[in-house]
Amino acid sequence: MSESVNPNSGTEPLLEVRDLRVRIERDTGVVRPLNDVSFRIHEGQSVGIVGESGCGKTMASNSLLRILPRRAEITGGSMEFSTKAGERVDLARIDPMSPRMRQIRGGEISMIFQEPMTAFSPVHTVYDQIAEMIRLHDPQADKQQRRQRVVELLNLVGIPDPEVRADDYSFQLSGGMRQRAMIAMALASSPRLLIADEPTTALDVTVQAKVLKLIERMQRELNIALMLITHDLGVVAHMVSYVYVMYLGRVVEEGRVEAIFHDPKHPYTAALLRSIPTRASKSQRLEPIAGNVPSADRLPTGCPFHTRCTEKVGDICHQHMPARVDMGGGHATSCFRHTDNRLDNLEEHDDG
Ligand SMILES: Nc1ncnc2c1ncn2[C@@H]1O[C@H](COP(=O)(O)OP(=O)(O)OP(=O)(O)O)[C@@H](O)[C@H]1O
Ligand code: SF4
Ligand SMILES: [Mg+2]
Repeated sequence: MSESVNPNSGTEPLLEVRDLRVRIERDTGVVRPLNDVSFRIHEGQSVGIVGESGCGKTMASNSLLRILPRRAEITGGSMEFSTKAGERVDLARIDPMSPRMRQIRGGEISMIFQEPMTAFSPVHTVYDQIAEMIRLHDPQADKQQRRQRVVELLNLVGIPDPEVRADDYSFQLSGGMRQRAMIAMALASSPRLLIADEPTTALDVTVQAKVLKLIERMQRELNIALMLITHDLGVVAHMVSYVYVMYLGRVVEEGRVEAIFHDPKHPYTAALLRSIPTRASKSQRLEPIAGNVPSADRLPTGCPFHTRCTEKVGDICHQHMPARVDMGGGHATSCFRHTDNRLDNLEEHDDG
């Protein structure tokens, strides 16, 4: 686990996402997957983004890379990122097809996907693809240096016989090895930020643990910032220092991993914790969260969680949006249980 930097501390974050909104026009109506999402990641810090399926985790990371679906549009907010050259770029305002954005995508921010088959082309060897990544981001490196770097990277991620395996096609590798090779490819450009979106869901349990350990080690040794996206709170417990809990395209709670696990303030976080087997609750019965995440084309009014919350404080929960309340020590939540519920604290629900 990386240094526990508080993302709310004074130093300028590597990435600062503020009030990000995304909407998608569909023939059947408007989908709102992100509704005022805000989060920060400092240099070399590991941050977890958690929430059930459909909460907007992938949409948030794809927004950073500007690889949103067709007819999706960023309608508000900013995503300020510090490049290797020391410039501050707002990723929300940059042309997604521009050379600058292509350089940032891969060169500054790399992604490890859930399914490594999608990252590799079946018609090129692993060597060809990692070497191409190096060539794009370090045009000075000659052929021999690229070969050496690919072998080093494959060795670093634990591929046995890297000189030989480099010339394999991705389909010749086992699932776990393919995932390792994808991590090597993601690291080839020496990114400042590594996004891992459910990086091990497709692997069996023993391989999962090894790949997660590898990501954690790479993040620590290479001092890369990590944004780990998962629906599994158990995974983030061992991997990150700070957690953002998302629900229906919003961050409903954030804090240091210890605070989130031992003193959750939002009923959704508490419900998520009761639904996973953690060390602390191994003897207790797991309680799945009742109901489903509402569809992003039918957002409820008021607090997004009110349709499933078992701790509602009254009508206010479905009439108004709870504001973010700072609990101290970088811990914050948006829930009326933690506000004084004065009307001047209330934001009218905004369907943007
Ligand atoms: N291309 C699309 N068109 C319309 N709606 C979409 C599209 N892609 C995603 N959505 C919707 O946006 C919301 C957020 O989806 P997203 O994929 O970001 O969720 P997630 O948290 O990553 O879920 P999972 O854990 O299943 O990966 C969901 O309601 C989803 O149905
Ligand atoms: S604001 Fe109300 S409905 Fe929402 S999580 Fe808090 S108590 Fe539950
Ligand atoms: Mg996803």
